[in-house]
Amino acid sequence: MERKKVIIDCDPGIDDSLALMLALSMEELLVAGITIVCGNGPVDMGFSNGKKILKKMGRLDIPIFKGEEKPMKKEYVSALDTHGADGLGESFLPEVPGYEQPVNAVEYMAGELLKGGCSVIALGPMTNLARLIERAPEAFARIEELVSMGGNYRSHGNCSPVAEYNYWADPHGAALVYQTAARIGKRIHMVGLDVTRKIVLTPDLLEYLKRLNRDLGEFVQAITKFYFDFHWEWEHLIGCVINDPLAVAYFVDRTLCEGFEAYTEIETEGISIGQSVVDAQNFYRRKANGVILTRTDPERFFKMFFGRLLKVEEQDLDLLKKLIR
Ligand code: RIB
Ligand code: CA
Repeated sequence: MERKKVIIDCDPGIDDSLALMLALSMEELLVAGITIVCGNGPVDMGFSNGKKILKKMGRLDIPIFKGEEKPMKKEYVSALDTHGADGLGESFLPEVPGYEQPVNAVEYMAGELLKGGCSVIALGPMTNLARLIERAPEAFARIEELVSMGGNYRSHGNCSPVAEYNYWADPHGAALVYQTAARIGKRIHMVGLDVTRKIVLTPDLLEYLKRLNRDLGEFVQAITKFYFDFHWEWEHLIGCVINDPLAVAYFVDRTLCEGFEAYTEIETEGISIGQSVVDAQNFYRRKANGVILTRTDPERFFKMFFGRLLKVEEQDLDLLKKLIR
C-alpha cells in the first residue's frame, strides 16, 4: 500500500491528541511531521502536549515543530476553558524534555511541501498556513490535499452563533487561506461542525474502549474527563464531541463524509467574525474553493477509530452498533 505523506498542523488540545493517536495508528499515513499552532493553548503548551502524545504512541521519532505564537491580527484567545489548564484535560502528564527543532513550523512546512507529494491536515487555527502563504506561497501551492477541521455550514457556531473556534480564533488567517485557495484553484476539505458534532465519545464507548484495551482506554479517559465535564456543564451532553479525529479519518477514507463543493469566504470583522460563509447557491458565481462536508456516519467513524487504535478488525467491533447514539 502506498502511504500518503502528511503534515498534521494542530493545537493539542484534547481532540487534537485523539486525532494524533488515530493518525499514528493508520498504516495508510506517513506522518512526516507535526506542526503546532497557538489555539486551544499557547504554542509552547501545544508543543509539550504533542510530545506527550508522541511518547505515549512510541513515536518520538516524528519531528514536532513550534509555530505561530499569536493570530495574524486578532488578539489571541485560548480554549483552555474547554481543554483544561494543561490543554490536555488536566491530566497533567509528565513533561517530555527536549526534541526542540532548529527551524520553526512554517520553515519546516515550506521545506517539506516543496519536495512535493505531501498533504496537510489542519486541526487548529490556520495561522501557520497563512504565514506559509506570506513567506513561501509556492510551498502552499504544492500542498497535495488540504483537509481542515473548522468552520460550519448550517450547524451553529461554538464561539458565537455563527463561528467555529479554529476560524474564529484567527479569522484573518483562515480568510487568507480560503482566498488563496480560490485564487490558485485549490479546494479545502472543510470538516466542520455540521459533521463533527455527530462524533460523540460517550461513557459507554469509553467503557468499551477500556474493556478492549485497558491501557489506551484509561489514557483516553484521563485526557477526556475534563472534556466530559465541560460538555455536561455547557451543553448538558453526556459525552464529548471529538472534532479533530474525524478530519484524520476522512483524509484516509473520503467516503466517511459527504457534502458539496462551494465558494467559501471567512468573515474577518463585525458580529459574524470567523463565520465560514458558504455560497451553496452560487450567488457570487465564483469557482469552488471548498468541499463542504455535511453528512457522516458515526458508527463507521468509531469502527475506524477503535479498529486502527486497537489494531482490531472492524468486523470484531460489532458491539459498537448498539453503543452509537
Ligand atoms: O471548534 C473545534 C476545534 O477547535 C477543534 O479543532 C478543537 O481542538 C479546537 O481547536
Ligand atoms: Ca484542534
